[in-house]
Amino acid sequence: MNFLNEVTTRFPKAVSFAPGRPYEEFFETTDIFDHLHRYLDHLAEEGVSPAGIRNLLYQYGPTAGFIRELIAASLRDDENIDVSPESIVVTVGCQEAMLLSLRALISGPADVLLVCSPCYVGILGAARLLDITVVGVDEDEQGRVSPARLEEAILTEKARGRRPTALYVVPDHSNPTGNTMSLEARQLLLDLAARHDFLVLEDSPYRLVSPGVQLPTLKALDRARRVVHLGSYSKTAFPGARLGFVVADQPVRDDAGRPSLLADELAKIKSMVTVNTPSLSQAVVAGMLLEVGGRMSTVNAGAAVHYGNALRTALDCLERHLPPERRDSVGVRWNEPDGGFFLTLQVPFDVDEASLTRSAEEFGVIWTPMSYFYPKPGNVRAIRLSVSYLSSEDIEKGISRLTRFIESQASTITGGFDDQSVRGRDRGVPRAGEL
Ligand SMILES: Cc1ncc(COP(=O)(O)O)c(C=O)c1O
Repeated sequence: MNFLNEVTTRFPKAVSFAPGRPYEEFFETTDIFDHLHRYLDHLAEEGVSPAGIRNLLYQYGPTAGFIRELIAASLRDDENIDVSPESIVVTVGCQEAMLLSLRALISGPADVLLVCSPCYVGILGAARLLDITVVGVDEDEQGRVSPARLEEAILTEKARGRRPTALYVVPDHSNPTGNTMSLEARQLLLDLAARHDFLVLEDSPYRLVSPGVQLPTLKALDRARRVVHLGSYSKTAFPGARLGFVVADQPVRDDAGRPSLLADELAKIKSMVTVNTPSLSQAVVAGMLLEVGGRMSTVNAGAAVHYGNALRTALDCLERHLPPERRDSVGVRWNEPDGGFFLTLQVPFDVDEASLTRSAEEFGVIWTPMSYFYPKPGNVRAIRLSVSYLSSEDIEKGISRLTRFIESQASTITGGFDDQSVRGRDRGVPRAGEL
């Protein structure tokens, strides 16, 4: 168990802004049976025999999954992503999609994975498991990776004799920062990928649970099959399903030199990792998709409003407790994401285990140190808040406690902002998924 989990267990009464879990009041236990029945009825209507339905649920299944048509239709209707079912592999969460993609794409020590720094811990963990060299590209002052910085990093790696093979990005309401990539930056990124011949691993689980109109995905803009799109139903359906997918429509050659798709190669790897994605989870999520005509955006419209309000509540509370003059004198600032689960605060003190423990013990509030999200080990003077799991009363209470903690902690130090400094010792990468 990592340190954050330890603190959460030791101080159960603290308000925790740490977990990136969905809001639990959305779940109704018996709904799962309705979704399952809906899919079984659909199979019967399609002419699948009772024995066929039984075996689909009870037997080993196809490695690439059996709900690929439904996912392809949903991607077309919800996201304007037009891909064939054959280019999809259904996975055990997005986490498996990351692992398979890295395993397939990064083939030797000369290949490197580029990531934005900071970035989601799940990809750092998967890369670490596979012994992949990760190169972090620092975000700029606006919290975005500029195409110019990215190109600089690519050229540096090439000059070292290494191949930047793939870039991992969360373009919408990113984890951990909450920031969103502009449309212009998306176009420039695709141009860059074509020019320097790398693939973009796009992971965007927060789009459909965010309010307002979303920018097009990189995959929807991709005309040259440069984007491998990683999908997750953890936020749009429920994380207990452990259901995700990967869209990999890139043409490749198999071991015998025959033309195939990257998805086929991923399925081969999957057959040695999880064999197939559990049939029950596929059937339940398929039932949900059928109920809403494939539009996960429809079923999540209420959730998107809820999470948008949660973010707004947190930002309004911060503004109230730390109006401009006060925040300047304390030396704290934060970003203002318009969707997703997260926001980040720059603080004027070292964010370490001691400060987190003090925050939980003396002030009753827990958060995630931003250092967890950096490819380079060390301490970063910033914290991540997640608002997804809390009621608005808890958010209000938590922000009031947090501001008291920040003011108290800031009063013990001298010096100003130091958000670029990365130092201290490696604390390892904590558990992915709910972070
Ligand atoms: C950016 C990002 N990708 C993927 C995941 C996890 O996806 P899954 O639960 O489908 O493995 C998360 C969850 O926190 C996330 O923030």
